[in-house]
Amino acid sequence: MKMKKIPHRLYLTEEQMPKQWYNLRADMRELPDPMLNPATFQPVSEEELYPIFCKQLAHQEMDCTTRYIDIPEEIQDFYKMYRPSPLIRAFNLEKALGTPAKIYYKFEGNNTSGSHKLNSAIAQAYYAKEQGLTSLTTETGAGQWGTALAEACSYYNLPLTVYMVKCSYEQKPFRKAIIETFDGHIVASPSNTTNTGRAILEKDPNTTGSLGCAISEAVEKAVTTEGCRYVLGSVLNQVLLHQSIIGLESKTAMEMLDEYPDIVIGCAGGGSNLGGLIAPFMQDKLTGKASPRIIAVEPASCPSLTRGRYAYDFCDTGRVTPLARMYTLGCGFIPSANHAGGLRYHGMSPILSKLYHDGYMEAVSVEQTKVFEAATLFAKQETILPAPESSHAIRAAIDEALKCKETGEAKTILFGLTGTGYFDMNAYSSFLNGTMTDTIPTDEELEKAFGELPKIPGIQ
Ligand SMILES: Cc1ncc(COP(=O)(O)O)c(C=O)c1O
Repeated sequence: MKMKKIPHRLYLTEEQMPKQWYNLRADMRELPDPMLNPATFQPVSEEELYPIFCKQLAHQEMDCTTRYIDIPEEIQDFYKMYRPSPLIRAFNLEKALGTPAKIYYKFEGNNTSGSHKLNSAIAQAYYAKEQGLTSLTTETGAGQWGTALAEACSYYNLPLTVYMVKCSYEQKPFRKAIIETFDGHIVASPSNTTNTGRAILEKDPNTTGSLGCAISEAVEKAVTTEGCRYVLGSVLNQVLLHQSIIGLESKTAMEMLDEYPDIVIGCAGGGSNLGGLIAPFMQDKLTGKASPRIIAVEPASCPSLTRGRYAYDFCDTGRVTPLARMYTLGCGFIPSANHAGGLRYHGMSPILSKLYHDGYMEAVSVEQTKVFEAATLFAKQETILPAPESSHAIRAAIDEALKCKETGEAKTILFGLTGTGYFDMNAYSSFLNGTMTDTIPTDEELEKAFGELPKIPGIQ
């Protein structure tokens, strides 16, 4: 059914919601390189992942061929508590910019966790419960993933320990409180509760932490605790799979409006929202049906795609995870304390890295003061207070819309508004009172981190 008048917000019905996730790898001409065991440098098998991940998730991680994977009914029912999320036409923003472009955004902040992260959190908690696991661990950067997973674990009565990057822990006390409301146990990372944490603190007692450090600690806790597994909120293939619901819903909604995006834009931390949003549009591109431009937006302070190396690297700072081939700044790179904590990750999803490497995607990096300029403009026009991470996508969408203003083209732009920024008011305040600064790593700093990439005989 096509709609004659474009509404401000389009919600699908429950019946129109996807019943399967889409596995982008099934349509990639060339697959991402396999994960390697850091001890043997041999490709990791599914069984080798079982001590870290629960079995179904390890299976999804390795499954490169099943194009569509059924969403278990229990997960579909949970999704219905906060989905479908709306596809919104940014009429007011378009007017304020004076652009002929048509701007749409998919808003994922409409649940208590405040972001898209719940889409994968509930799936991962479900499979853990199904396997009879007794607890989970994870890391969180900005706090959205920790909140989402705490919510999902409390739904399934699964105890959860969250290692929260120290600078976010200090900047966002209310994130901690909300995780605790859902019974999550929260630890500032690096901590002295793990060997990796202690080693990192010994080297740099004043470190503000990073997602890479927090991952190491969470993995260590999982592999040393009976019945416990680790879950990750981004980067992994399984997470992109769960997040494909964002793109699938967006595509159905756009079809109802008789629209198709010329440009699809998303912010990129570890790549999960972007991978999910672009999934069905990238499928069209890979299969020759359409050729939208796809743009990843990252912070200039942590530019893994735009200035990183495509290389095998550890997914964590403590060097305990398997090696993944991805765009990376080096697992020892600690980004400056950028307010968009969820984008402070040294690497990038191997699927997105491969697509970028093969020319299917573009990437831009933006400075945080420019991001907050866009965030405040957007908040005033659209009356949603965006998360700093999401505001990276807003910045790029505005820039593309302004280019349309110059050329007079009425392009259709779709971007992912991944979450709300109500726990990020320190960041907003520092922008508003003029104390926010931009930190961009020098080439020397990046070279130093690249110098510590693992040496793999015959590969790199
Ligand atoms: C609101 C929000 N958007 C985006 C991201 C970036 O993560 P990803 O690249 O996995 O989507 C995060 C991560 O914490 C987030 O909280």
